Amino acid sequence: MRVVRLVILLLVASEAWPKVDDATGLIEDVGWRMVQAHCSGCHDLKLVTAQRGNREFWEQTIRWMQKTQNLWQLGETTERRILTYLAKNYAPEFTGRRRPLPASLRPD
Ligand code: HEC
Repeated sequence: MRVVRLVILLLVASEAWPKVDDATGLIEDVGWRMVQAHCSGCHDLKLVTAQRGNREFWEQTIRWMQKTQNLWQLGETTERRILTYLAKNYAPEFTGRRRPLPASLRPD
């Protein structure tokens, strides 16, 4: 009985844990192949996976590369899927630090 429970627990845990592709380092979620195809040509994908940001951050990063680094137009559908993937899997993280005190509570 305990073994059965352990197996179930492991199955549930493995579902909840994101799977990372060994070759690219990308989290295997909807759209990751598109990110591999469009985002690995000029720099290492580590540059992507090391970043965290919301959708707006990722969109600005893409615009910046398009304006200054010759990143091509991704097309509406592809761009939407890439942004959804990035905003979901590389979202801002809670770093464990508390928020800074409001200015009114800080010493001068
Ligand atoms: C046409 C070339 C090219 C492609 C394709 C490309 N990038 Fe970049 N990207 C760059 C360059 C150049 C830099 C600056 C690298 C550096 O600072 O060393 C950069 C930097 C970055 C950075 C770091 C930005 C920072 O503020 O440090 C991120 C994140 C990033 N790219 C994400 C992506 C994503 C996501 C994609 C796919 C949608 C992508 N890149 C595709 C050229 C490209």
